[in-house]
Amino acid sequence: MPRTFLIDTDTGSDDAVAIIMALRAPDIRVAAITVVAGNVPLPQALSNALYTVELCGSDVPVFSGASHPLKRALCCADWFHGEDGLGDHGYVPKNKKAESKHAVDAMIETIRANPGLTIVTLGPLTNLALALQRDPKLAESVGRCVIMGGNPCCEGNITPAAEFNIYVDPEAARIVFRSGMPIEMVGWHLCRGEAALNRKEIDSLLASKKPLAEFAVVSNSIAAESYHTQTNEYGICLPDPTAMGIAIDPKLCLDGTEHYVEIETDSELNRGFTLVDKLNVAHDRRNIDIWGPTIESQPRKIHVCWTMNVPAWKKFMLSLLTE
Ligand code: BDR
Ligand code: CA
Repeated sequence: MPRTFLIDTDTGSDDAVAIIMALRAPDIRVAAITVVAGNVPLPQALSNALYTVELCGSDVPVFSGASHPLKRALCCADWFHGEDGLGDHGYVPKNKKAESKHAVDAMIETIRANPGLTIVTLGPLTNLALALQRDPKLAESVGRCVIMGGNPCCEGNITPAAEFNIYVDPEAARIVFRSGMPIEMVGWHLCRGEAALNRKEIDSLLASKKPLAEFAVVSNSIAAESYHTQTNEYGICLPDPTAMGIAIDPKLCLDGTEHYVEIETDSELNRGFTLVDKLNVAHDRRNIDIWGPTIESQPRKIHVCWTMNVPAWKKFMLSLLTE
């Protein structure tokens, strides 16, 4: 019996690889893909999602959602992924069109129709926050919510304090993190260092001559350059596929622990910071005055993934792209 996934995405070049993974994984049924503005403005993200789905030969319905964050102006990452989010190679869907229903309605209906499903979020959390605002009990029907977002241990990628998906719509992230859903947080640190695809792995993808493998590499051409400029590390770093890997196979997360996690929404410098109560001091009398509101607002702790089985994740992802 395949597991049911709903994917929410601001489709850029790493989202595309994550979508391919889910659509290619034999024991996963993707019930819907909902699109949100983030890496690129909504129409472009939608076009990229449709192109990716079409390339996979899938008939999964794709829904267009929020065009801007709840309370802020949209800030994009075209500087990282290319102006079109897919490395500026002219990828345009041939036939596939978005459904007419709004992504937030589709999200609510899909969750209601598939209790226990897994949501995988690959972009800012605007669509999911809107769904939860409209139907707060929705959280009870979600089996797992795997979120690519946050920087629980280390520096961020959009500011030193924040990871892009949380930074773009911190108010939405706060709503989602306080919803009581069983959240698994897959932070940006997991895609760095040895997790970035190296030259040998990139060459083996290209040598496979498989269209999905080639697309995964070529669509990330600008992202690879940006990653080097940003971190001085080489390779293709793939944050969304780390989350998708863990969503498909939770054992890929080697070390995960449960904590209260608060999202910074007020600060100028720390906007979107994911504040993790790593030492679990929230219940300590000495901290209760400060952490009390957080404990009260979070019906459930967040599962934070600290380390990942990188060789196993890579092997799995590369096989999905080439077989
Ligand atoms: C996240 O931000 C986006 O640029 C990527 O698609 C990923 O979802 C990484 O911080
Ligand atoms: Ca993304």
